[in-house]
Amino acid sequence: MSNRELLTIVLAAGKGTRMKSDVPKVLHAVAGRSMLGHVLALAEAAGPSRLAVVIGPGMDNVRAATLKAAPSAGVFMQEAQQGTADAVLAAREAIAGHDGDVIVLYADTPLIESDTVVRLRQALDGGAAVAVLGFEAIDPTGYGRLITSAAGELLAIREEKDATAEERAIRLCNSGVMAFRGAGLLERLQRIGNSNAKGEYYLTDIVELARADGLKSVAVACSEDEVLGVNARDQLAAAEAIFQQRARSRAMANGATLIAPGTVWFSHDTVLGRDVIIEPNVFFGPGVVVEDGAEIKANSHLEGAHVGPGARIGPFARLRPGARLGRDVHIGNFVELKAMEMGDGAKANHLAYLGDGSVGAGANIGAGTIFCNYDGFFKHKTEVGPGAFVGSNSSLVAPVKIGAGAYIGSGSVITKDVAADALALERATQDERPGWAAKFRQMMQRRKAKAG
Ligand code: UD1
Ligand code: CA
Repeated sequence: MSNRELLTIVLAAGKGTRMKSDVPKVLHAVAGRSMLGHVLALAEAAGPSRLAVVIGPGMDNVRAATLKAAPSAGVFMQEAQQGTADAVLAAREAIAGHDGDVIVLYADTPLIESDTVVRLRQALDGGAAVAVLGFEAIDPTGYGRLITSAAGELLAIREEKDATAEERAIRLCNSGVMAFRGAGLLERLQRIGNSNAKGEYYLTDIVELARADGLKSVAVACSEDEVLGVNARDQLAAAEAIFQQRARSRAMANGATLIAPGTVWFSHDTVLGRDVIIEPNVFFGPGVVVEDGAEIKANSHLEGAHVGPGARIGPFARLRPGARLGRDVHIGNFVELKAMEMGDGAKANHLAYLGDGSVGAGANIGAGTIFCNYDGFFKHKTEVGPGAFVGSNSSLVAPVKIGAGAYIGSGSVITKDVAADALALERATQDERPGWAAKFRQMMQRRKAKAG
């Protein structure tokens, strides 16, 4: 592809009234990442470019989210919403200093793939001054229609409200995504007027203006799914569903087994190795890596966790941020891990909370073990050495260290460090009274008989 420089302009100034939300529309999430985040990632994946993001008044959180994801982005303010051309012109300064290609993306259209943007730019290589991403709409209502010549040239884009009945019958629609050659672009944008049904400055008018200047425009097609725009919560859910569908297919194509794909929920960044098996009803929050051959059993919830090769997680396990599990670790039902290092082959098979600590290779954590990591003010560390055995129902009160190979007797409350290979017990000595129970029963039965 060309080595012309690229400026990507992301439009995010829309109020998103139909979301009925205190949060700006573009900060609502799909697969654990804001729609804005998806679009900024798309801009990055489509090739190195300068970024300009257009926001509306009062959108400080959108500005902050932009600069967090893309610190070098320029953020521009569109004072009043006067249409898509006016929005692009808010970034006038960025366009003026740039003579390469310009791409316009909408921040509320999060599912476009980077290949599609690359194809759009390739259309510019082919000599077009404007390339518009179009799609065949099942229901074209509300979209701008792409008017093409028999030879495939894009002649004009007609907004629904300005279209004739004949033009409305066209099903090829404008997705809103467009690419431009930079030469003369700013000047043409400034010539766009607002004498139309909405009284807005339509970016789509650029096609006819370019044509009047003797320049060619083309339409590049993609699937309708890819250009789904989110205006309300039902469309947010639809975008999520499409994203998940893709993520499940990709996971399986890369060699993971999903027993019931429709019940597994991925984050935008989930990484699965080969021969990973995911049972039904598993949820991945952001930041999870599962290495080759690991098995995630039913009803588990993972977030910010690294699962080593061959590990077995769940059913009903919860891995929270900072859980780092080595090879062949076993985490069983109702076990919660947070900020925990688990060495190779370590096990915690039932009913435990392990947080802010480490468990060495091959150590065994018994059922009901609690790492008491929080004193109400501070968090403290618990370290269990390799090969140690922590008996069931033990409380390890942090900060505390259990040496390698040590044994902790069941039911102990451990508040002091335990040396390697020692046995630590913290419980009253067992007191056994022979025959007591039998005598007790006789006495009580007599008492009951007397009472009638
Ligand atoms: C626009 C297109 C239409 C296309 C449709 C696809 C125009 C004139 N029309 O119509 O051809 O089929 O998108 O969804 O371009 N925005 C601003 N500032 C504004 C106006 C819009 O930032 O002043 C942003 C919005 O936040 C949104 C995007 O631009 O992300 C599109 O705006 P919207 O009002 O939804 O355009 P449509 O009328 O749907
Ligand atoms: Ca729209």
